[in-house]
Amino acid sequence: MFATKPGVRFVRPVVKSIGRNQILSCRSIPSCHYSTGAGGQGGKANHFLPLTLLGVAAVGLTYYNMNNNTKPPTPSIDPTSSTIQGSPLFPSEKYPEAINVVFVLGGPGSGKGTQCSKLVKDYKFVHLSAGDLLRKEKSTPGSEFGDLIDHYIKEGLIVPQEITIQLLKNAIVEQYDKGNRKFLVDGFPRKMDQALSFEKTVSEGKLVLYFQCPEEVMLQRLLNRGKTSGRSDDNLESIKKRFTTFIQTSMPVVEYFDDQHKVVKVDCNEPVDDVYNHVVSQFKEKNII
Ligand code: ADP
Ligand code: C5P
Ligand code: MG
Repeated sequence: MFATKPGVRFVRPVVKSIGRNQILSCRSIPSCHYSTGAGGQGGKANHFLPLTLLGVAAVGLTYYNMNNNTKPPTPSIDPTSSTIQGSPLFPSEKYPEAINVVFVLGGPGSGKGTQCSKLVKDYKFVHLSAGDLLRKEKSTPGSEFGDLIDHYIKEGLIVPQEITIQLLKNAIVEQYDKGNRKFLVDGFPRKMDQALSFEKTVSEGKLVLYFQCPEEVMLQRLLNRGKTSGRSDDNLESIKKRFTTFIQTSMPVVEYFDDQHKVVKVDCNEPVDDVYNHVVSQFKEKNII
């Protein structure tokens, strides 16, 4: 912990290695939790007023942080930051076998989910979509992150990485225990802090499959998908914000992995099966399948 204001403590984010049923705690999210000074969690009646005021301040600050997240990203990655401390889960004493992780990236509507489904069918990958995991968490009754996730998704912003990484870790551990070792991690990492944190605390990515797609094509696909998807972000206003986030925040991640020669680029603007043939041949070339 470190002090922000007298009497108010800001709980540093801690990403610990997880137990399989670990429940995410708001206390580990930077913009999510404040406690009073000495004694911290005091919930007695005579503390009601100060706690209420602190609650209001915390909510205000959360929204302030959210809104400020709309600024262009500054890729200032501090490798000593507590958010990326830790050591990879896989392999480890508890999870002795390494896992194979392919990150699947591309703009919204580029076809990531569509192609992953085909790979699952033919090659028995486990498909984990970060967006799907967030939507599931959002609609889990009683989730303390429901409103926060809802806001970030509608605004096309990147949800604080602690949440997304914890959800991915939980899902990967669950699959590992079932004997699965091959993962397509779809729509992740979307921001540099996610990339560094995941590779440091979970596993490195063997390859990045990147779907190149013109914005007009993605726009038409998303508007079309929006007719039936029921997604709160498949509408013109949210789509525009998602495109901006993709260019400003997610493209640096693709470039980061490209510098490591880990990216295979596939043109998404072809019929689904043609795109898939390119994906399969690239995976074969790289010994992924
Ligand atoms: P993403 O997961 O990247 O957001 P999806 O896989 O959900 O994208 O695809 C977005 C929409 O575009 C869906 O309605 C899907 O059916 C459609 N789609 C995906 N790939 C193609 C393609 N190659 N050609 C035409 N439509 C596609
Ligand atoms: O990938 P998908 O389009 O399903 O993602 C929907 C939204 O989920 C994103 O626009 C973003 O708000 C959130 N998300 C995130 N971090 C990720 C993946 C998705 O914040 N790695
Ligand atoms: Mg998708």
